[in-house]
Amino acid sequence: MSPMESTAQRPVAVNAPVTDLDPYADAVLDDPYPHYERLRELGPIFYLSRYDAYGLARHAEIDAVLRDPATFCSSAGVGLANFHTTAAWRKPSIILEVDPPMHARTRKVVAGLLAPASINKLRPTFEQQAERLVDALLQQGGQIDAVPALCEAYPLKVFADAVGIPAQGRETYLLPYGDMVFNAFGPVNERFQACLAKAQQGAIEWIGEVCKRENLTSDGLGMQLYQAADEGLLAPDEAPMLVRTLLSAGLDTTVFTLCNAVLSFARHPDQWALVHANPALARQALEEVLRYESTFHSFYRTTTRDVDIAGVQMAPEQKICVLIGSANRDPRRWGETADRFDVTRRAVGNMAFGTGIHGCAGQMIARLEGETLLTVLARRVKAIHLEGAPSMHYNNSVRGYTRMPVRLVAA
Ligand code: HEM
Repeated sequence: MSPMESTAQRPVAVNAPVTDLDPYADAVLDDPYPHYERLRELGPIFYLSRYDAYGLARHAEIDAVLRDPATFCSSAGVGLANFHTTAAWRKPSIILEVDPPMHARTRKVVAGLLAPASINKLRPTFEQQAERLVDALLQQGGQIDAVPALCEAYPLKVFADAVGIPAQGRETYLLPYGDMVFNAFGPVNERFQACLAKAQQGAIEWIGEVCKRENLTSDGLGMQLYQAADEGLLAPDEAPMLVRTLLSAGLDTTVFTLCNAVLSFARHPDQWALVHANPALARQALEEVLRYESTFHSFYRTTTRDVDIAGVQMAPEQKICVLIGSANRDPRRWGETADRFDVTRRAVGNMAFGTGIHGCAGQMIARLEGETLLTVLARRVKAIHLEGAPSMHYNNSVRGYTRMPVRLVAA
Protein backbone atom coordinates (compact mmCIF):
# COMPACT_ATOMS: atom_id res chain seq x y z
CA MET A 1 0.00 0.00 0.00
CA SER A 2 1.41 3.41 -0.90
CA PRO A 3 1.61 6.06 1.86
CA MET A 4 -1.23 7.86 0.14
CA GLU A 5 -3.74 5.04 0.08
CA SER A 6 -4.39 5.26 3.77
CA THR A 7 -6.67 3.26 5.94
CA ALA A 8 -8.13 6.58 7.15
CA GLN A 9 -11.88 6.36 7.48
CA ARG A 10 -13.67 7.97 4.60
CA PRO A 11 -16.24 10.41 6.04
CA VAL A 12 -19.76 9.21 5.22
CA ALA A 13 -20.56 12.22 3.07
CA VAL A 14 -17.35 12.00 1.02
CA ASN A 15 -17.81 10.32 -2.29
CA ALA A 16 -14.30 10.89 -3.64
CA PRO A 17 -10.97 9.06 -3.30
CA VAL A 18 -9.54 9.83 0.14
CA THR A 19 -5.88 10.47 0.89
CA ASP A 20 -4.14 11.27 4.13
CA LEU A 21 -1.21 12.87 2.32
CA ASP A 22 -0.03 16.01 4.09
CA PRO A 23 0.89 18.44 1.28
CA TYR A 24 2.64 20.60 3.90
CA ALA A 25 5.00 17.94 5.29
CA ASP A 26 8.72 18.72 4.83
CA ALA A 27 9.24 15.42 3.00
CA VAL A 28 6.50 16.32 0.50
CA LEU A 29 7.79 19.86 0.00
CA ASP A 30 11.28 18.48 -0.65
CA ASP A 31 10.01 16.80 -3.80
CA PRO A 32 6.26 17.19 -4.29
CA TYR A 33 6.11 15.93 -7.87
CA PRO A 34 5.79 12.15 -7.30
CA HIS A 35 3.05 12.95 -4.77
CA TYR A 36 1.30 15.19 -7.26
CA GLU A 37 1.40 12.47 -9.85
CA ARG A 38 -0.32 10.09 -7.45
CA LEU A 39 -2.91 12.72 -6.55
CA ARG A 40 -3.69 13.30 -10.23
CA GLU A 41 -4.07 9.57 -10.68
CA LEU A 42 -6.54 9.36 -7.79
CA GLY A 43 -9.02 11.18 -10.02
CA PRO A 44 -10.20 14.66 -11.03
CA ILE A 45 -11.01 15.39 -7.37
CA PHE A 46 -9.99 13.81 -4.05
CA TYR A 47 -10.41 14.40 -0.34
CA LEU A 48 -7.53 15.44 1.94
CA SER A 49 -8.62 13.71 5.14
CA ARG A 50 -6.12 15.52 7.36
CA TYR A 51 -7.56 18.89 6.47
CA ASP A 52 -11.23 18.22 5.69
CA ALA A 53 -10.70 19.75 2.28
CA TYR A 54 -11.18 18.49 -1.22
CA GLY A 55 -8.24 18.78 -3.57
CA LEU A 56 -7.65 19.31 -7.27
CA ALA A 57 -4.36 18.40 -8.93
CA ARG A 58 -5.24 18.27 -12.63
CA HIS A 59 -4.95 21.28 -14.94
CA ALA A 60 -8.46 21.15 -16.44
CA GLU A 61 -10.38 21.12 -13.14
CA ILE A 62 -8.15 23.79 -11.60
CA ASP A 63 -8.62 26.02 -14.63
CA ALA A 64 -12.41 25.57 -14.46
CA VAL A 65 -12.59 26.31 -10.72
CA LEU A 66 -10.40 29.42 -10.88
CA ARG A 67 -12.53 30.76 -13.72
CA ASP A 68 -15.78 30.38 -11.79
CA PRO A 69 -15.57 32.80 -8.82
CA ALA A 70 -19.37 32.81 -8.38
CA THR A 71 -19.27 29.12 -7.39
CA PHE A 72 -15.73 28.94 -5.94
CA CYS A 73 -15.19 32.11 -3.99
CA SER A 74 -12.16 33.80 -2.44
CA SER A 75 -13.97 35.82 0.24
CA ALA A 76 -13.80 32.88 2.69
CA GLY A 77 -10.02 33.32 2.49
CA VAL A 78 -7.63 31.69 0.02
CA GLY A 79 -6.05 29.72 2.85
CA LEU A 80 -7.32 26.66 4.64
CA ALA A 81 -9.24 28.63 7.30
CA ASN A 82 -12.82 29.50 6.33
CA PHE A 83 -13.45 33.14 7.20
CA HIS A 84 -17.20 32.72 6.59
CA THR A 85 -17.58 30.11 9.32
CA THR A 86 -14.73 30.88 11.73
CA ALA A 87 -13.61 34.24 13.08
CA ALA A 88 -10.90 35.59 10.78
CA TRP A 89 -7.70 35.67 12.85
CA ARG A 90 -6.15 37.96 10.23
CA LYS A 91 -7.60 40.70 8.06
CA PRO A 92 -8.57 39.29 4.65
CA SER A 93 -6.84 40.97 1.70
CA ILE A 94 -9.04 43.62 0.07
CA ILE A 95 -8.15 42.40 -3.40
CA LEU A 96 -7.21 38.71 -3.15
CA GLU A 97 -9.90 37.75 -0.66
CA VAL A 98 -12.95 39.58 -1.95
CA ASP A 99 -15.50 38.49 -4.55
CA PRO A 100 -17.27 40.40 -7.32
CA PRO A 101 -18.53 43.07 -7.35
CA MET A 102 -16.25 44.26 -4.49
CA HIS A 103 -13.20 42.76 -6.14
CA ALA A 104 -13.53 44.77 -9.35
CA ARG A 105 -13.02 48.10 -7.55
CA THR A 106 -9.65 47.37 -5.94
CA ARG A 107 -8.52 45.19 -8.84
CA LYS A 108 -9.15 48.04 -11.30
CA VAL A 109 -6.90 50.41 -9.34
CA VAL A 110 -4.11 47.85 -8.84
CA ALA A 111 -4.32 46.59 -12.43
CA GLY A 112 -4.07 50.17 -13.72
CA LEU A 113 -0.96 50.70 -11.65
CA LEU A 114 0.68 47.50 -12.87
CA ALA A 115 -0.42 47.70 -16.52
CA PRO A 116 2.13 47.16 -19.29
CA ALA A 117 2.42 50.88 -20.11
CA SER A 118 3.62 51.81 -16.63
CA ILE A 119 5.65 48.67 -16.06
CA ASN A 120 7.56 49.15 -19.33
CA LYS A 121 8.82 52.49 -18.02
CA LEU A 122 10.70 50.52 -15.36
CA ARG A 123 12.60 48.43 -17.91
CA PRO A 124 15.70 50.64 -18.38
CA THR A 125 16.27 50.88 -14.61
CA PHE A 126 15.71 47.16 -14.11
CA GLU A 127 18.20 46.37 -16.92
CA GLN A 128 20.80 48.72 -15.50
CA GLN A 129 20.48 47.23 -12.01
CA ALA A 130 20.68 43.69 -13.36
CA GLU A 131 23.91 44.55 -15.21
CA ARG A 132 25.38 46.24 -12.16
CA LEU A 133 24.61 43.29 -9.91
CA VAL A 134 25.79 40.53 -12.25
CA ASP A 135 28.99 42.44 -13.15
CA ALA A 136 29.81 42.92 -9.46
CA LEU A 137 29.30 39.20 -8.73
CA LEU A 138 31.50 38.19 -11.67
CA GLN A 139 34.21 40.65 -10.67
CA GLN A 140 34.31 38.94 -7.28
CA GLY A 141 34.91 35.61 -9.03
CA GLY A 142 31.32 34.37 -9.43
CA GLN A 143 31.47 32.02 -6.42
CA ILE A 144 28.28 32.94 -4.56
CA ASP A 145 25.39 31.87 -2.43
CA ALA A 146 22.85 32.65 -5.15
CA VAL A 147 19.98 33.15 -2.69
CA PRO A 148 21.12 36.33 -0.90
CA ALA A 149 23.66 37.52 -3.48
CA LEU A 150 21.44 37.33 -6.56
CA CYS A 151 17.88 36.10 -6.07
CA GLU A 152 17.12 38.26 -3.03
CA ALA A 153 19.39 41.18 -3.85
CA TYR A 154 17.77 41.98 -7.19
CA PRO A 155 14.05 42.20 -6.20
CA LEU A 156 14.96 43.82 -2.88
CA LYS A 157 16.52 46.60 -4.94
CA VAL A 158 14.38 46.98 -8.06
CA PHE A 159 10.95 45.99 -6.81
CA ALA A 160 11.17 47.76 -3.46
CA ASP A 161 12.48 50.88 -5.28
CA ALA A 162 9.57 50.64 -7.75
CA VAL A 163 7.09 50.57 -4.87
CA GLY A 164 9.02 53.46 -3.34
CA ILE A 165 9.82 52.33 0.19
CA PRO A 166 12.94 53.35 2.18
CA ALA A 167 16.09 51.25 1.73
CA GLN A 168 16.77 50.79 5.41
CA GLY A 169 15.30 47.61 6.89
CA ARG A 170 14.42 45.90 3.58
CA GLU A 171 16.88 43.02 3.99
CA THR A 172 15.79 42.40 7.57
CA TYR A 173 12.03 42.69 7.38
CA LEU A 174 10.52 42.33 3.92
CA LEU A 175 11.07 38.62 3.33
CA PRO A 176 10.04 37.44 6.84
CA TYR A 177 6.84 39.43 6.41
CA GLY A 178 6.01 37.75 3.08
CA ASP A 179 6.99 34.39 4.54
CA MET A 180 4.32 34.83 7.19
CA VAL A 181 1.69 35.89 4.66
CA PHE A 182 2.32 32.88 2.42
CA ASN A 183 2.49 30.45 5.33
CA ALA A 184 -0.94 31.70 6.35
CA PHE A 185 -2.45 30.17 3.20
CA GLY A 186 -1.90 26.72 4.68
CA PRO A 187 -2.81 25.18 8.05
CA VAL A 188 -1.90 26.79 11.36
CA ASN A 189 1.05 24.43 11.82
CA GLU A 190 4.38 24.81 13.63
CA ARG A 191 5.93 26.31 10.53
CA PHE A 192 3.34 29.06 10.48
CA GLN A 193 3.59 29.68 14.26
CA ALA A 194 7.37 30.01 14.02
CA CYS A 195 7.32 32.52 11.19
CA LEU A 196 4.50 34.50 12.80
CA ALA A 197 6.64 34.79 15.93
CA LYS A 198 9.57 35.93 13.76
CA ALA A 199 7.46 38.50 11.89
CA GLN A 200 6.26 39.84 15.22
CA GLN A 201 9.85 40.77 16.05
CA GLY A 202 9.71 44.00 14.12
CA ALA A 203 8.62 43.07 10.58
CA ILE A 204 4.89 43.72 11.03
CA GLU A 205 5.57 47.07 12.67
CA TRP A 206 8.16 48.06 10.06
CA ILE A 207 5.81 47.22 7.17
CA GLY A 208 3.10 49.36 8.77
CA GLU A 209 5.52 52.32 8.90
CA VAL A 210 6.94 52.08 5.36
CA CYS A 211 3.44 51.88 3.85
CA LYS A 212 2.57 55.33 5.23
CA ARG A 213 2.31 58.12 2.69
CA GLU A 214 5.06 60.22 4.26
CA ASN A 215 7.55 57.35 3.93
CA LEU A 216 7.00 56.66 0.23
CA THR A 217 8.85 58.23 -2.71
CA SER A 218 6.79 60.70 -4.71
CA ASP A 219 6.89 58.70 -7.97
CA GLY A 220 6.54 55.08 -6.86
CA LEU A 221 3.70 52.57 -7.16
CA GLY A 222 2.89 53.07 -3.48
CA MET A 223 2.30 56.80 -3.86
CA GLN A 224 0.08 56.13 -6.89
CA LEU A 225 -2.22 54.16 -4.60
CA TYR A 226 -2.53 57.19 -2.31
CA GLN A 227 -3.25 59.32 -5.39
CA ALA A 228 -6.01 56.89 -6.36
CA ALA A 229 -7.47 57.41 -2.89
CA ASP A 230 -7.22 61.21 -3.40
CA GLU A 231 -9.28 60.76 -6.57
CA GLY A 232 -11.93 58.82 -4.64
CA LEU A 233 -11.13 55.49 -6.30
CA LEU A 234 -10.17 53.96 -2.94
CA ALA A 235 -11.14 54.74 0.65
CA PRO A 236 -8.29 56.55 2.45
CA ASP A 237 -7.46 53.57 4.68
CA GLU A 238 -7.32 51.22 1.67
CA ALA A 239 -4.24 52.87 0.14
CA PRO A 240 -1.79 51.70 2.85
CA MET A 241 -3.47 48.27 2.85
CA LEU A 242 -2.79 47.89 -0.85
CA VAL A 243 0.81 49.13 -0.55
CA ARG A 244 1.25 46.35 2.00
CA THR A 245 -0.36 43.89 -0.43
CA LEU A 246 2.18 44.80 -3.12
CA LEU A 247 5.04 44.28 -0.69
CA SER A 248 3.77 40.96 0.63
CA ALA A 249 2.64 39.52 -2.73
CA GLY A 250 5.55 40.76 -4.78
CA LEU A 251 8.80 39.97 -2.98
CA ASP A 252 9.07 36.37 -1.79
CA THR A 253 7.36 35.20 -4.97
CA THR A 254 9.91 36.83 -7.27
CA VAL A 255 12.87 35.90 -5.05
CA PHE A 256 11.80 32.25 -5.08
CA THR A 257 11.13 32.32 -8.83
CA LEU A 258 14.70 33.49 -9.37
CA CYS A 259 15.96 30.73 -7.02
CA ASN A 260 13.99 28.19 -9.03
CA ALA A 261 15.43 29.59 -12.26
CA VAL A 262 19.07 29.44 -11.10
CA LEU A 263 18.63 25.92 -9.74
CA SER A 264 16.81 24.64 -12.82
CA PHE A 265 19.56 25.96 -15.07
CA ALA A 266 22.34 24.68 -12.80
CA ARG A 267 20.75 21.23 -12.97
CA HIS A 268 20.11 21.41 -16.73
CA PRO A 269 23.31 22.83 -18.30
CA ASP A 270 22.05 21.96 -21.80
CA GLN A 271 19.11 24.33 -21.27
CA TRP A 272 21.38 27.10 -20.03
CA ALA A 273 23.55 26.60 -23.12
CA LEU A 274 20.48 27.33 -25.27
CA VAL A 275 19.68 30.54 -23.40
CA HIS A 276 23.33 31.61 -23.33
CA ALA A 277 23.53 31.09 -27.10
CA ASN A 278 20.34 33.08 -27.62
CA PRO A 279 19.57 35.54 -24.77
CA ALA A 280 16.33 36.48 -26.56
CA LEU A 281 15.04 33.15 -25.22
CA ALA A 282 15.12 34.56 -21.67
CA ARG A 283 11.45 35.45 -21.54
CA GLN A 284 10.24 32.12 -22.82
CA ALA A 285 12.72 30.34 -20.55
CA LEU A 286 11.32 32.18 -17.53
CA GLU A 287 7.85 30.97 -18.44
CA GLU A 288 9.14 27.41 -18.50
CA VAL A 289 10.79 27.91 -15.09
CA LEU A 290 7.41 29.10 -13.76
CA ARG A 291 5.72 26.03 -15.18
CA TYR A 292 8.37 23.49 -14.24
CA GLU A 293 9.04 24.77 -10.71
CA SER A 294 5.90 26.65 -9.80
CA THR A 295 6.69 29.18 -7.08
CA PHE A 296 3.19 29.11 -5.64
CA HIS A 297 2.10 25.54 -5.07
CA SER A 298 -1.33 25.68 -3.56
CA PHE A 299 -4.11 27.84 -2.22
CA TYR A 300 -7.85 27.43 -1.66
CA ARG A 301 -11.27 28.26 -2.96
CA THR A 302 -14.57 27.79 -1.08
CA THR A 303 -17.88 26.60 -2.51
CA THR A 304 -20.75 29.11 -2.45
CA ARG A 305 -23.53 26.58 -3.21
CA ASP A 306 -24.20 22.88 -3.68
CA VAL A 307 -21.88 21.89 -6.48
CA ASP A 308 -20.65 18.80 -8.27
CA ILE A 309 -17.15 18.29 -9.66
CA ALA A 310 -16.71 15.10 -11.68
CA GLY A 311 -19.67 13.48 -9.90
CA VAL A 312 -18.52 14.48 -6.40
CA GLN A 313 -21.12 16.54 -4.59
CA MET A 314 -20.07 19.25 -2.21
CA ALA A 315 -22.09 21.47 0.12
CA PRO A 316 -21.61 25.24 0.42
CA GLU A 317 -18.62 26.45 2.49
CA GLN A 318 -16.46 23.49 1.48
CA LYS A 319 -12.74 24.27 1.16
CA ILE A 320 -11.01 23.05 -2.00
CA CYS A 321 -7.21 22.96 -2.23
CA VAL A 322 -6.01 24.02 -5.66
CA LEU A 323 -2.58 22.51 -6.37
CA ILE A 324 -1.33 24.72 -9.20
CA GLY A 325 2.19 23.27 -8.89
CA SER A 326 0.66 19.97 -9.95
CA ALA A 327 -1.43 21.47 -12.77
CA ASN A 328 1.84 22.73 -14.22
CA ARG A 329 3.14 19.13 -14.45
CA ASP A 330 -0.09 17.49 -15.60
CA PRO A 331 0.66 15.32 -18.66
CA ARG A 332 -3.00 15.74 -19.69
CA ARG A 333 -2.09 19.37 -20.43
CA TRP A 334 1.65 19.24 -21.16
CA GLY A 335 2.02 15.83 -22.73
CA GLU A 336 4.47 13.07 -21.88
CA THR A 337 7.31 15.54 -21.42
CA ALA A 338 5.50 17.41 -18.61
CA ASP A 339 8.31 16.56 -16.16
CA ARG A 340 11.05 17.74 -18.52
CA PHE A 341 12.58 21.22 -18.20
CA ASP A 342 12.58 22.46 -21.78
CA VAL A 343 13.09 26.14 -22.55
CA THR A 344 11.93 25.66 -26.12
CA ARG A 345 8.46 24.66 -24.89
CA ARG A 346 5.54 27.04 -25.21
CA ALA A 347 4.67 27.14 -21.52
CA VAL A 348 1.84 29.63 -22.02
CA GLY A 349 -1.25 28.50 -20.12
CA ASN A 350 0.72 27.46 -17.06
CA MET A 351 -0.96 28.21 -13.74
CA ALA A 352 2.00 29.80 -11.96
CA PHE A 353 0.17 33.13 -11.77
CA GLY A 354 -3.26 31.54 -11.27
CA THR A 355 -6.00 32.45 -13.74
CA GLY A 356 -9.44 34.07 -13.89
CA ILE A 357 -10.35 37.28 -12.11
CA HIS A 358 -7.77 36.79 -9.34
CA GLY A 359 -4.93 35.89 -11.72
CA CYS A 360 -1.77 37.63 -10.49
CA ALA A 361 -2.09 41.40 -10.84
CA GLY A 362 1.69 41.76 -10.61
CA GLN A 363 2.69 39.30 -13.30
CA MET A 364 3.98 41.98 -15.69
CA ILE A 365 6.45 43.32 -13.17
CA ALA A 366 7.38 39.81 -11.98
CA ARG A 367 8.08 38.80 -15.58
CA LEU A 368 10.06 41.99 -16.16
CA GLU A 369 12.29 41.21 -13.18
CA GLY A 370 12.84 37.62 -14.27
CA GLU A 371 13.41 38.47 -17.90
CA THR A 372 15.84 41.34 -17.29
CA LEU A 373 17.98 39.35 -14.84
CA LEU A 374 18.00 36.19 -16.96
CA THR A 375 18.89 38.19 -20.08
CA VAL A 376 21.91 39.77 -18.41
CA LEU A 377 22.99 36.40 -16.98
CA ALA A 378 22.58 34.83 -20.44
CA ARG A 379 24.90 37.44 -21.95
CA ARG A 380 27.55 37.41 -19.22
CA VAL A 381 27.54 33.85 -17.84
CA LYS A 382 28.37 30.78 -19.89
CA ALA A 383 27.76 28.19 -17.16
CA ILE A 384 26.12 27.93 -13.74
CA HIS A 385 27.66 25.22 -11.55
CA LEU A 386 25.97 23.98 -8.41
CA GLU A 387 28.75 23.78 -5.79
CA GLY A 388 26.80 22.11 -2.98
CA ALA A 389 23.33 20.99 -1.98
CA PRO A 390 20.80 23.84 -1.91
CA SER A 391 18.76 24.29 1.30
CA MET A 392 15.00 24.40 0.91
CA HIS A 393 12.98 27.24 2.37
CA TYR A 394 9.89 25.49 3.73
CA ASN A 395 6.67 27.45 3.41
CA ASN A 396 3.03 26.33 3.31
CA SER A 397 2.27 27.75 -0.12
CA VAL A 398 5.40 28.95 -1.93
CA ARG A 399 8.61 27.07 -2.71
CA GLY A 400 12.11 28.45 -2.66
CA TYR A 401 15.52 28.18 -1.05
CA THR A 402 17.55 29.72 1.77
CA ARG A 403 20.98 28.75 0.41
CA MET A 404 22.30 27.78 -3.00
CA PRO A 405 26.08 27.70 -3.49
CA VAL A 406 26.86 28.21 -7.17
CA ARG A 407 29.71 29.31 -9.39
CA LEU A 408 28.84 31.66 -12.22
CA VAL A 409 31.37 31.18 -15.03
CA ALA A 410 31.95 34.41 -16.96
CA ALA A 411 31.47 34.22 -20.72
C1 HEM B 1 6.77 35.24 -9.94
C2 HEM B 1 6.19 35.96 -9.03
C3 HEM B 1 4.74 35.82 -8.66
C4 HEM B 1 3.96 34.70 -8.62
C5 HEM B 1 4.37 33.27 -8.92
C6 HEM B 1 2.63 35.13 -8.23
C7 HEM B 1 1.54 34.29 -8.11
C8 HEM B 1 0.26 34.72 -7.87
C9 HEM B 1 -0.91 33.86 -7.87
C10 HEM B 1 -0.90 32.36 -8.13
C11 HEM B 1 -2.00 34.63 -7.60
C12 HEM B 1 -3.45 34.17 -7.57
C13 HEM B 1 -3.93 33.75 -6.19
C14 HEM B 1 -5.39 33.33 -6.20
O1 HEM B 1 -5.98 33.15 -7.27
O2 HEM B 1 -5.97 33.17 -5.11
C15 HEM B 1 -1.52 35.97 -7.41
C16 HEM B 1 -2.33 37.05 -7.12
C17 HEM B 1 -1.85 38.33 -6.90
N1 HEM B 1 -0.54 38.76 -7.05
FE1 HEM B 1 1.01 37.64 -7.62
N2 HEM B 1 2.64 36.48 -8.03
C18 HEM B 1 3.91 36.94 -8.29
C19 HEM B 1 4.34 38.24 -8.22
C20 HEM B 1 3.57 39.32 -7.86
C21 HEM B 1 4.02 40.68 -7.80
C22 HEM B 1 5.42 41.15 -8.17
C23 HEM B 1 2.98 41.42 -7.35
C24 HEM B 1 2.89 42.91 -7.09
C25 HEM B 1 3.43 43.82 -7.82
C26 HEM B 1 1.85 40.54 -7.17
C27 HEM B 1 0.59 40.93 -6.76
C28 HEM B 1 -0.51 40.10 -6.74
C29 HEM B 1 -1.83 40.56 -6.38
C30 HEM B 1 -2.22 41.99 -5.99
C31 HEM B 1 -2.67 39.44 -6.47
C32 HEM B 1 -4.17 39.40 -6.19
C33 HEM B 1 -4.93 39.61 -7.49
C34 HEM B 1 -6.44 39.54 -7.31
O3 HEM B 1 -6.91 38.92 -6.36
O4 HEM B 1 -7.13 40.13 -8.16
N3 HEM B 1 2.25 39.27 -7.49
N4 HEM B 1 -0.15 36.00 -7.60
